[in-house]
Amino acid sequence: MNLLAPSRVDPAFRADVLAGFRMARRAIPARWFYDRAGSELFERITRLPDYYPTRVETALLERIAPEVAAMVGPGRAVVEFGSGSSIKTPHLLEAIAPAAYVPIDISGEFLRESAAALASDFPKLSILPVEADFMQPIAPPAEIASLPKLGFFPGSTIGNMVARTAVNLLRAMVETLGVGSMLLIGMDRIKDVDVLIRAYDDAEGVTAAFNLNLLHRINRELDADIPVDAFRHRAIWNDRFARIEMRLEAVRDSSFTIEGEHFFMAAGETIHTENSHKYGPRDARLLLRAGAWTPIAEWTDEKDRFALILAEAQPPGTAP
Ligand code: TRP
Repeated sequence: MNLLAPSRVDPAFRADVLAGFRMARRAIPARWFYDRAGSELFERITRLPDYYPTRVETALLERIAPEVAAMVGPGRAVVEFGSGSSIKTPHLLEAIAPAAYVPIDISGEFLRESAAALASDFPKLSILPVEADFMQPIAPPAEIASLPKLGFFPGSTIGNMVARTAVNLLRAMVETLGVGSMLLIGMDRIKDVDVLIRAYDDAEGVTAAFNLNLLHRINRELDADIPVDAFRHRAIWNDRFARIEMRLEAVRDSSFTIEGEHFFMAAGETIHTENSHKYGPRDARLLLRAGAWTPIAEWTDEKDRFALILAEAQPPGTAP
């Protein structure tokens, strides 16, 4: 309970949590996972043996970087969307000889830390961090206005959006980067359901802790008394939507209060906390085209687990 510092409650967090619990299909936007504890748990997830995407994508990027470099050419400004800790970025920057690197992230603290770390590895590269929500078109820094651009969007973060949101984002990226730009995007593939579920419900229980941390965060930051031990982490494959869903399931009937409002959840009811859509090869290409990007090359690891796709911005008005 946060009685001592009510002014530090983020009003958007409060509003999203209350609205999410009032809905018949309870859901809380996944962005609220990432408080300090949540960000640390997420970093641990990316290093888990069961969580293949980070490992597979990083190795793939390292392998294909020379080919990407040959296709995009030198002297581009690399614009990374949601750069976070930028662990994959050095592989790309080393190979393609960019003129500038523009990491965009909503978390200013994270952004400055990783920009500083990169600056010591790439002393001659112009690094221009932008603290912004990349879901909206962004005015790039004036220094890169005249440079050709390469967007970089790894991590299958596009998969965390429903199709409509993903398409809106892809179109916003075209606006941000401009005609003549290219995009290198990571997308996780549809695969064996057991492998997928294991990645989101790992043997060590880190993803469970990550999901349950959301309830702890609500109790910590809002005036709430959710009995966290009455919930368990679930990762399920929704085949109709081709996505993994993370849910928090009530294991017994429970009543609790959030900001003075009473809620009840019966055993078996869930709160939907995250989607991770998976894309077959054609699905991936169609999504990109719907978002005004034309795929021109794609690569996967030897087991087809994860794809990196290079696309170019569609010039307006070219369809028959
Ligand atoms: N985009 C990645 C994925 O969907 C990373 C990610 C986002 C993630 N939220 C997560 C991984 C929650 C594990 C749990 O896989």
